[in-house]
Amino acid sequence: MKIGVFIPIGNNGWLISKNAPQYMPSFDLNREVVQRAERHRLDFALSMIKLRGFGGETEFWDHNLDSFTLMAGLAAVTSRIQLFATVATLTIPPAIAARMAATIDSISHGRFGLNVITGWQKPEYSQMGLWPGDEYFTRRYDFVAEYVQILRELWETGRCDRRGEFFQMSDCRVSPRPRADMKLICAGQSDAGMMFSATYADYNFCFGKGVNTPTAFAPAARKLQDAIAITGRQVTTYALFMIIADETDAAAMAKWEHYKAGADHAALAWLTTQSAADTRSGADTNVRQMANPTSAVNINMGTLVGSFATVAALLDEIATVPGTEGVLLTFDEFIGGVEDFGTRIQPLMRSRAHIASTVEAA
Ligand SMILES: Cc1cc2nc3c(=O)[nH]c(=O)nc-3n(C[C@H](O)[C@H](O)[C@H](O)COP(=O)(O)O)c2cc1C
Repeated sequence: MKIGVFIPIGNNGWLISKNAPQYMPSFDLNREVVQRAERHRLDFALSMIKLRGFGGETEFWDHNLDSFTLMAGLAAVTSRIQLFATVATLTIPPAIAARMAATIDSISHGRFGLNVITGWQKPEYSQMGLWPGDEYFTRRYDFVAEYVQILRELWETGRCDRRGEFFQMSDCRVSPRPRADMKLICAGQSDAGMMFSATYADYNFCFGKGVNTPTAFAPAARKLQDAIAITGRQVTTYALFMIIADETDAAAMAKWEHYKAGADHAALAWLTTQSAADTRSGADTNVRQMANPTSAVNINMGTLVGSFATVAALLDEIATVPGTEGVLLTFDEFIGGVEDFGTRIQPLMRSRAHIASTVEAA
C-alpha cells in the first residue's frame, strides 16, 4: 500500500480544537515533515489550497501558505518523495498552471503532480471577485474537465488550440514540457466528481470515514470502480485518515477525547454554513459530511485512534478494500506523528513489509 502525508499548509493542521497543538504553517515546519517522511520511505506528500479560513478562537485555517510555491521549495530540499500541489482552478489559468507544473517537474526531476479541485467554498473566490455565480455549483466539473484537457495537451504536445465553453486557446505554447508523465489527483465524491476522476484523473482521493472503522469508505471506492468500468481507465482510490497514536489504546483515546472536548464551535459553525451553501451538487457530498457533528473537530475525516500496534492493524485493513492503492495521512502533531509512523507503526504493517528492508538498508 502507498502512503502519503497531507502536509500542514494551514494553521493547526486538521484539528479544529482549542485543545490541539496550536501552530502556524511555515516552510520550515513542512520541510521537517516532508524530509522525515522521505527518510521513512513514505511515497508522497500533498498540500491543499485553502484561501479563506473558518475563524473562531483558533482562527482555523485563517493562515495558509500557497500550495505551488510551497511544493517548489520542498522539491528543492527532497530527492525521492513524490510531491503534489493543489490547483484552485478558478484562480489560475490552465496555461499558467501547466507552466508552473513544468517548472516544479524540473526542480524535482520528475517527482511532481497535481491535485485538481473545483472549489466548493464560495467566499474563497468571491473575496477576490473570482466566483462565477452560484450556477457554478452544478457546472464545476464541466469547467475542470476543459481545464485538464488543456493541461494534458500542453504537457503532451507543448501547444493547445482548444476553443471551449470556458477557455479559448489560440496557438498557446508551453515549453519546456515536463519530463514526467504528470499524474493528476482529483478528490471528487459527487457523481459528477467521480465521473470526472474516472475520465481524467489517475487517482481519486476520498475521505476515510468514522473512528476505527478503516473500511467504511468502501462505498466510495466501489463508486469509483463502477465509474471506471464505464470509462475503461485505470484510476485508483486513496483514502484520507488522521492518525492519533500513543503507547496504549487508552492514552491515544484520551488524546482524541481531549481534542473533541476543546472543539472550536465558532469555527465549526462557519464550516456548517459553507457546506450548506452548495444545494446543487447532490446531497451526499463529502463537503456536507465534513460538517457532520459526530467528529467535526477533524472535519469528520476517518480517524485511527490507538496504540501503535492497533493503528498498524487498522491501516492494514484499509489495504483490503478493492480498488484501493493507498492512504493519505494527517496527524494530530505532524513531526512526532510522522516519526512515530516511521519508527513504531510502519514496521508492524503487513502492507508495508516491502518498506522495512529498504529502511534498514539505508
Ligand atoms: C484528500 C482531499 C484533498 C482535498 N483538497 C482540497 C483542496 O485543496 N481545496 C479544496 O477546496 N477542496 C479540497 N478537497 C475537496 C474536494 O476537491 C472535493 O470538492 C470534495 O471532496 C467534494 O467532492 P465533490 O467536489 O465531488 O462534491 C479535498 C478533498 C480530499 C478528500
